[in-house]
Amino acid sequence: MHFGGKRVIVTGGASGFGRAISQGFAGRGAHVMVTDIDIDGADAVAADLDGALTFRLDVTDEDAHAELAQLMADTWGGIDIVATNAGFSHRAGYTLNVPTDEFDLMWAVNTRSIYFAVKHFTPHMPPGSSIVSTASIGGKRPRKGFTPYNASKAAAIILTRGLAEEFAPDIRINCVAPVASETAFFVRATGSDTLPEPLKESIIDGIPMGRMTDPIDVANAVMFLASDEAGFLTGVCLDVDGGRSIS
Ligand SMILES: NC(=O)c1ccc[n+]([C@@H]2O[C@H](COP(=O)([O-])OP(=O)(O)OC[C@H]3O[C@@H](n4cnc5c(N)ncnc54)[C@H](O)[C@@H]3O)[C@@H](O)[C@H]2O)c1
Repeated sequence: MHFGGKRVIVTGGASGFGRAISQGFAGRGAHVMVTDIDIDGADAVAADLDGALTFRLDVTDEDAHAELAQLMADTWGGIDIVATNAGFSHRAGYTLNVPTDEFDLMWAVNTRSIYFAVKHFTPHMPPGSSIVSTASIGGKRPRKGFTPYNASKAAAIILTRGLAEEFAPDIRINCVAPVASETAFFVRATGSDTLPEPLKESIIDGIPMGRMTDPIDVANAVMFLASDEAGFLTGVCLDVDGGRSIS
């Protein structure tokens, strides 16, 4: 896969999957705008990449999306690929223990952000462009402890499919559905500073491929969906789950 000269936005690019996605595109020749609410983290990622810039994008902020769209137009003349990847989860547990403000924030970060990205970025995206969102396998096959989070990702998957039809044939819109990965987001959701070993073992037990997701697995799937090689794929949600959702 080659992305020479492609103009890419990555949200949540400071850490975990977003960092791997930023590194993947930049390593294949793209101009990458590494964005995150954590601008210091985004700057640190971009510092190691050729041709990367950064922007502080809080994906719950509509005006910031409009500003970034203008910046992309002014700097690189448009946008070819958007990876809407930033995400947030409540602490694992029963739904009724999730505070209402966290429930709303999660919906805004995981789902409404896709609407903002499509609304503000697509006017600058030429035919042949593509958007790839990071959903979750929980959005297809929910498990206990993450019901509201899983619902927000299920909505992201349906949004992807509906938007894919609306924007075809000009812009392809797809998403990926990873299983658990030991990133900051997931560890925080379990309520600890590090993933407890017994929990890790029980997660791995349920994954036929015998390990959790590595951020590079997600980056590879996102890059494939964004590539010319996937030119006939739209409305797809690609499982990156080592077989977890088979049974
Ligand atoms: N880690 C997992 O187990 C897992 C599994 C399936 C899906 N996901 C999804 O993968 C995506 C990336 O998560 P990750 O696992 O790499 O976690 P991570 O914590 O390593 O990265 C998430 C990034 O999103 C940023 N972010 C949070 N709120 C934001 C906001 N309002 N605006 C902009 N940026 C914001 C954070 O600063 C962070 O850099 C998320 O959408 C998450 O829901 C994660």
